[in-house]
Amino acid sequence: MKKIRIGMIGCGGMGQGHIKKIKELPEAQLAAVSDADPETARKIGTENNVPYFADYRKLIKSGLCDAVLIVTPHYFHHEIGIAAFKSGLHVLSEKPITVTVAAADAFLAAAKKSRKVFGVMFQQRTFPHVRLAREIIKSGRIGKIQRTLAVEPHYRSQAYYDSSTWRGTWLGEGGGVLINQSPHGIDLFMLLGGLPSRVIAKTRTKIHKIEVEDEVTALLEYPNGAWGYYYTSTCEDPASPLFMEIVGDSGKIVLTENDVKLFTFKPSISKHNATAKTMWGGPEIKEEKLKLPKTESGHKEIIRNFCAAIMGREKLLAPGAEGLWSIEFINALILSGKKEKPVNIPVNRKEYEKLLDGLKKKSKIKKVKKVERTTDPRHDK
Ligand SMILES: NC(=O)c1ccc[n+]([C@@H]2O[C@H](COP(=O)([O-])OP(=O)(O)OC[C@H]3O[C@@H](n4cnc5c(N)ncnc54)[C@H](O)[C@@H]3O)[C@@H](O)[C@H]2O)c1
Repeated sequence: MKKIRIGMIGCGGMGQGHIKKIKELPEAQLAAVSDADPETARKIGTENNVPYFADYRKLIKSGLCDAVLIVTPHYFHHEIGIAAFKSGLHVLSEKPITVTVAAADAFLAAAKKSRKVFGVMFQQRTFPHVRLAREIIKSGRIGKIQRTLAVEPHYRSQAYYDSSTWRGTWLGEGGGVLINQSPHGIDLFMLLGGLPSRVIAKTRTKIHKIEVEDEVTALLEYPNGAWGYYYTSTCEDPASPLFMEIVGDSGKIVLTENDVKLFTFKPSISKHNATAKTMWGGPEIKEEKLKLPKTESGHKEIIRNFCAAIMGREKLLAPGAEGLWSIEFINALILSGKKEKPVNIPVNRKEYEKLLDGLKKKSKIKKVKKVERTTDPRHDK
């Protein structure tokens, strides 16, 4: 089998995790590595017996790779991705595809121009219950969406934020829990519930010594008039897995960590409301029996699917262009939180750039005692 030669750019915690997965895949081959820290580049290149570069541009120009997997801090994703597209390489970007909607637009335009494959590491899209929920919504079984809810508290200690210079700063990552821990849940929320057209959010830094937000709550309005609610933080332990409800006129989906439930209403709420002759009661509610598909899931499945898409065998499960959806939502919530006013989606590109420029000007390069590059044990299986 032809192998897609992948250049790994960014060999920290997650990059090292992805290297293990590439090596397990018959479709992929680790061709070269790059890390801005020369010692990390040397160590990881030597350990894996592949050429290594401190400057990602040299890896891109080396002719050794068909594709790059970008696993640097978020600000570099679009800069590196655009350079790779210009050199005719396929790109798989870690989430988030970048930090601002304007940068995402530029990333998407470069991908389109290059006609190369552009994927994003939204591995939660591969989970069986998520695949099934997508199918149910696509089939129209829950009808027109009436209400949404997504609640996803995470936990990170101060030691996590103090483990690297970029974490928890406007200069280093351009946001807090929204841009770092929550993009997966937000992606699924946008995928299943669609993009709201207007949000009003509250953001704050509650328990950590960081510049960026560690708690967010928001009310949402959708183009069809439906309302929704969103909550996230890095302040809650035990952290709860993403809990989501998508309520339609004729059914409701409830998504928990590894499961999806479907309740159907007969007749639909709108029909029952218009036709019921008695004072009490509602439509007949039925919990449908569902069977989760047997599928591979996780980071490895996204890398495999990306290689298969390059070979022309499969459609992408997580196209890079759809990475814009979560950036719209994240930027809208941060902007609304800062302005203390409602914000429309699509987000005003110039207004968001201006806000972030101001926040970056006040942001300080962080000094840390020792930079950690360790993989989150939950991803190291
Ligand atoms: N999909 C997931 O489940 C998941 C999980 C964790 C992290 N991530 C994402 O992966 C990215 C990296 O996170 P991490 O935890 O591995 O961080 P990390 O700090 O452990 O590693 C980042 C690495 O990138 C290197 N780097 C910085 N700038 C670079 C550049 N310009 N060129 C080459 N290398 C550069 C750093 O030296 C470091 O080794 C983030 O965007 C994060 O959101 C995704």
